[in-house]
Amino acid sequence: MNRIIKIVVVGLGQVGNYLYNELKIKAKDIESKTGKKIKIVAISAKSKNKKRKFKIDKKIFYSDPLKTITEKNPDIVFEVIGQSDGISKRIVEKALKNKIHVITPNKALIAKHGNYLAKIAEENNVNLEFEASVAGGIPILRTIKESLASNKISKIYGILNGTTNYILSEMENSNQNFSEVLKKAQNLGYAEPINPKLDLNGSDAFAKVRILSALGFKSKISKAKCLMEGIEKIELKDIKIANQLGLRIKLLGISEIKNNHLFETVHPCLVSKKSYIGNVNGVMNAVITEGKPVGESILQGEGAGPGPTSSALLSDLISILCGDVKNPLGVSVSKLRSLKQYNINNYVNSLYLRFEVKDKPGVLSEITNRLAKYNISVKRIIQTPDKKNNKATIVIITHKTSELNCKNCLSIFKNHKNILKKPTLIRLLN
Ligand SMILES: NC(=O)c1ccc[n+]([C@@H]2O[C@H](COP(=O)([O-])OP(=O)(O)OC[C@H]3O[C@@H](n4cnc5c(N)ncnc54)[C@H](OP(=O)(O)O)[C@@H]3O)[C@@H](O)[C@H]2O)c1
Repeated sequence: MNRIIKIVVVGLGQVGNYLYNELKIKAKDIESKTGKKIKIVAISAKSKNKKRKFKIDKKIFYSDPLKTITEKNPDIVFEVIGQSDGISKRIVEKALKNKIHVITPNKALIAKHGNYLAKIAEENNVNLEFEASVAGGIPILRTIKESLASNKISKIYGILNGTTNYILSEMENSNQNFSEVLKKAQNLGYAEPINPKLDLNGSDAFAKVRILSALGFKSKISKAKCLMEGIEKIELKDIKIANQLGLRIKLLGISEIKNNHLFETVHPCLVSKKSYIGNVNGVMNAVITEGKPVGESILQGEGAGPGPTSSALLSDLISILCGDVKNPLGVSVSKLRSLKQYNINNYVNSLYLRFEVKDKPGVLSEITNRLAKYNISVKRIIQTPDKKNNKATIVIITHKTSELNCKNCLSIFKNHKNILKKPTLIRLLN
């Protein structure tokens, strides 16, 4: 690449519009680092006349993103639209098949079609880079693919979604309930204003877990169904009780090799307030890797927002401009392992169980007897009566038990005359 590098940006929303501006103001800096001159030759979004934070050059605007490829024959395409299929997939496919490098922050696309797209990139000898798809500005993917390349990684876990981490932290700090804090998060731009579901229910973090697993364990991006729980059922009560116990609730994404099987989950976890992960608060993300011989490594930083995301997108650009073509998933798709899924029923944890009950004699023993029947031993019980309403909250911390055992044990409490609603279960981090 010794001529001007022609760049296309499709998607000019929060990230794409910021990136567009960064590419313009940092062109000289990029040239001094890479020796390559870049030029934005085409941009695309849904609406040409929408008011945007950074003014766009309407002369190079295309309403059909696919035409940017046929008409401009670029060297590099940034896909910043964000769909898991549809136009995002079509543009990436078309670019790669036309031997054009692609850079994207689109975790939904990579988690769903990453194996297929990586293969096309390899066949056409171009790069498909997606550093910004996991944990925003934190340079975790390149760290795994390159800096930790010689290690055998056994576990990757962390806080992979800033919205949920902000909500949980803010509930603790402000003593406000979930819906009040969600509104605050939406006003601050930390949560989607219309449909925040994908952040709250764990889907966003799960897509990132899938990508991390593939790179860490040199395996195909998995498609298997797995344990995914969000934070929607966490109440202020849980946060307060956790606090009394010296614990904090965090939504963790976990990927691990257990007995040669792949184990991927996203769920709320109770972690010690003294632990590292227990002190990653607000919108911060953190990713912890465990490998041999390197041991434990931790990266922390801002996991979202146009600035951190653009930082990762530009790192991909500079990597492409400086280097050779690399396998998108670290090793060739044909050499990726197909790992069998770990049986979730065998997942073992200590549990936090919160029961909302009628305040009458015998209810506590009904619960503890049921736990005893399933050999679930009790470590601690906290009972808080609500005399006025003739109710009580019972929180039980158990010793370790398997997921299957717990499911069977709790099944009768779903429709039980003395138990007012389905018990809340939060796992303690092992
Ligand atoms: N926001 C973050 O903090 C963040 C962090 C990490 C990763 N990401 C990822 O970055 C990507 C973009 O996110 P975002 O927050 O920037 O999204 P966004 O604000 O919703 O922007 C989406 C852009 O795509 C354009 N678009 C939609 N359909 C189109 C079509 N058919 N043809 C051409 N353009 C189309 C929209 O056009 P109009 O502007 O004309 O409507 C808009 O400019 C996603 O993959 C997301 O997961 C975002």
